[in-house]
Amino acid sequence: MIDQPVIQLRDVRKRYGDFMAVNGIDLDVHSGEIFGILGPNGAGKTTTLEMIEGLRAPDSGTITLAGFDAVRQNDEVRKIIGVQLQSTSLFPYLSAQELLELFGHFYGISNPVARATDLLAKVNLTDKGQSRMEQLSGGQQQRLSIALALVNSPVVSFLDEPTTGLDPHARRNLWQTILDVRASGSTVVLTTHYMDEAEQLCDRIAIMDGGNVIACDTPAALIRSLPQDAVVKATSSQPLEWTTGQLAALPGATSADITTADVGSHLAIGTADVQATIVALLNLADAHAVRLDNLASTSASLEDVFLALTGRTYANTDDADVAEGVA
Ligand SMILES: Nc1ncnc2c1ncn2[C@@H]1O[C@H](COP(=O)(O)OP(=O)(O)O)[C@@H](O)[C@H]1O
Ligand SMILES: [Mg+2]
Repeated sequence: MIDQPVIQLRDVRKRYGDFMAVNGIDLDVHSGEIFGILGPNGAGKTTTLEMIEGLRAPDSGTITLAGFDAVRQNDEVRKIIGVQLQSTSLFPYLSAQELLELFGHFYGISNPVARATDLLAKVNLTDKGQSRMEQLSGGQQQRLSIALALVNSPVVSFLDEPTTGLDPHARRNLWQTILDVRASGSTVVLTTHYMDEAEQLCDRIAIMDGGNVIACDTPAALIRSLPQDAVVKATSSQPLEWTTGQLAALPGATSADITTADVGSHLAIGTADVQATIVALLNLADAHAVRLDNLASTSASLEDVFLALTGRTYANTDDADVAEGVA
């Protein structure tokens, strides 16, 4: 029982008309982890989340949550999960404290007033108990909606893009709230299109693209799976005649890319040995009397994982307006 995943998906598919939104995915979410579903807009993250929550039925495949079938035992599943609602307009005349009490009554918990007070403290909103949703900042609204999702002490909490649209400070606060949710014993499943969020907050992530799970592991293991540890970059204000083959043959190099225009060149070399590659690159520059500018090395990241798996750069749209298609 202990090793049994709390959520299990097998060959789950969902199509909208001719469009395959989720294309036969398998997932195992373990108890007590923060599990991230990461991917660009349109990857199928929300559809996947809503099928696990029992809000949308898959066309085929099986989904179990705490041993219950998400479709056939939908009522059981609903009782033990928490879903962060996106809508900020529900019950506009109620204060934060009153909203939490109302949800407590919905779930039939024994002391809704005390529970509301506890939850406000947990999401760091104690002094906002008398405020209505519209009087809260974006980050505070998100924290309140997480508190609302926690009223029934859920086994699993679901958060769909919880930090989209928040400023960096509010994002950090929300990450802390999410860590606190896990610490209180709930497994957390969240979606995000932010690479850094997945890397820093999640214990494990599934990377989705075009309806498929293209990788699933801890962020560290995904990055370790790359041939390179780092990327060495430099520019030159004179156009260079070096070839990618020549650069990829430098000691330690695993890949290379060079773009040259009249105004100069950019080069990027994936490397498993930063020092050896930089030394060789500087020797090459010396031998050709070339001056390199902006020489830098950056550790490999999830961006590099996405590039390696898809051949595409992950366009991280920080201010993306992610429309969630649920009315
Ligand atoms: N109800 C729907 N009807 C038709 N197409 C939909 C519907 N919901 C989502 N889609 C499409 O399915 C794809 C995946 O959507 P979604 O699961 O919302 O992705 P994500 O959350 O990763 O952005 C998108 O191309 C989206 O336009
Ligand atoms: Mg979505």
